Amino acid sequence: MFYTKNIFNILDFVKYLTPKSIKLELDRYIIGQIETKKIISVSVYNHYKRLYIAKKKKINLEKSNILLIGPTGSGKTLMVKTLAKIINVPIIVVDATSFTEVGYVGDDVESIIQKLLHECNYNVELTERSIVYIDEIDKISKKNDFLSGKDVSGEGVQQALLKLIEGVSLNIPPLIEKKNNQQQIFNVDTCNILFIVGGAFSGIENIIKFRINQEKNFLEQDNELSNIIEHTNTEDLINYGLIPEFLGRIPILAKFKELNQNELLNILITSKNSLLKQFCYLFLIEGVNIKFSFDSIKEISKIAVKKKIGARGLKSILENILLNVMYEFPSKKMLKNILIYKEVITMNKKPIYLFK
Ligand SMILES: Nc1ncnc2c1ncn2[C@@H]1O[C@H](COP(=O)(O)OP(=O)(O)O)[C@@H](O)[C@H]1O
Ligand SMILES: [Mg+2]
Repeated sequence: MFYTKNIFNILDFVKYLTPKSIKLELDRYIIGQIETKKIISVSVYNHYKRLYIAKKKKINLEKSNILLIGPTGSGKTLMVKTLAKIINVPIIVVDATSFTEVGYVGDDVESIIQKLLHECNYNVELTERSIVYIDEIDKISKKNDFLSGKDVSGEGVQQALLKLIEGVSLNIPPLIEKKNNQQQIFNVDTCNILFIVGGAFSGIENIIKFRINQEKNFLEQDNELSNIIEHTNTEDLINYGLIPEFLGRIPILAKFKELNQNELLNILITSKNSLLKQFCYLFLIEGVNIKFSFDSIKEISKIAVKKKIGARGLKSILENILLNVMYEFPSKKMLKNILIYKEVITMNKKPIYLFK
């Protein structure tokens, strides 16, 4: 990949990118989440500026890891991956549920760095300024096994991650052992790696409501609380089961909203790499134009809102609706256009086929 050959220059980064330019680039791929994009642009910019200062002036500034919270399909993973592309650094996405504390069966957290190192072609310098995204962080909360009162490795994993996130020097063997070769060990310092953790934290709404209720007269506020996740604070996350020491290493909280119908519609039409563009392309390579009426697209976004899995639902809805069309059209001779109108979506009617 580009970055492995062309070592990214921190000076260039600070010269050419600004929080604003990062945000503008994010805008092309990610619909909505405006405040969140701002928060993330600023913190990522500061993270790399901090690296730059540390290199030049030998001053160590505190690093700012980020926690993403928001419902499934709202763009958390997409945001992190897009970010890495913009900054041109390697990224790996790992799942918190696959880790165990030291001494148990399962991956140990150091394997994260091993994977990252591998992704960076064993270039230690590059590894040390990459991004790690740990997904499903909510699943390692302390109270996971509430009923028995036992901690099922959640807290232990948090403890193990804590050191990694804060910064530790590790000796890492390669992911794939070379035969007949002396084992090379790489020393990686994690203190400059940007860690982003994220999760849906389902059920946290009740914790937030409870807190607000105690703080103020909740009934008076009820109307304002439609997007309750926006009110999340550190206390709520601790009540949810993240340990304070762990949260202490992740000072930036970025909240994702549930996408509304209009945003889902825009994801279909306007986002770079939009789903509709991708589908249209599938038809176009066989010389067929597929066109969707605005009404039909609106209906698709309505169905997605009902499904409550955010933008994740859009693809499966489209696949479902277009299954018959995709089955039939390649064997139709002289086909030129396919028109999808509202009733194709709502009443399962046949699309209009136009021939040459
Ligand atoms: N805000 C958004 N803007 C554009 N596309 C989005 C957005 N949110 C989700 N998507 C689409 O939905 C897919 C799943 O989103 P993802 O980022 O994986 O969600 P999650 O929040 O669960 O990590 C993405 O690959 C993308 O196609
Ligand atoms: Mg995700």
